[in-house]
Amino acid sequence: MLHNKYPFALIAISISLLSAATFAADIKAGADIYEASCAKCHSVTKPMKNKKGPSLLGIVGRSSSRISGYEYSEAMRAANLTWTSEKLDEFLINPKAVVPNSKMKFKGMSNAEDRANLIEFLLLQQ
Ligand code: HEC
Repeated sequence: MLHNKYPFALIAISISLLSAATFAADIKAGADIYEASCAKCHSVTKPMKNKKGPSLLGIVGRSSSRISGYEYSEAMRAANLTWTSEKLDEFLINPKAVVPNSKMKFKGMSNAEDRANLIEFLLLQQ
């Protein structure tokens, strides 16, 4: 009877190794999406640096319009949001739908997996 347990243990180990590999790939994919879609206007370096848009260092969980020295639009200042993963996801689908008249010129990202990977990446930029 005992020998029957090993295949299950092996399957369990393989599954956990697989998901660890998938997770690492997601962050890498998120970093690539960040570079391709956000880095032109945003920075995540330390110390914080504003470009055309405000620094995104520590953005996940932060309230909107909190970077001192960055001149937000009237619309963004009035929006009063908290950038949870969910709110960021909604914003990235179509920024203008969440903050009409924002000065962020970005058409949006329709691929849900891309958005999830990007947000995972941003979550690590603290
Ligand atoms: C063409 C330049 C540009 C691109 C590309 C861009 N942004 Fe922005 N972003 C801005 C600007 C400008 C603002 C300020 C908006 C305002 O004040 O209305 C902003 C604001 C933001 C904010 C609100 C920040 C805060 O402090 O409240 C978030 C979050 C954000 N961008 C995320 C992203 C992400 C993630 C990407 C990549 C998918 C991205 N942006 C791509 C220019 C850009």
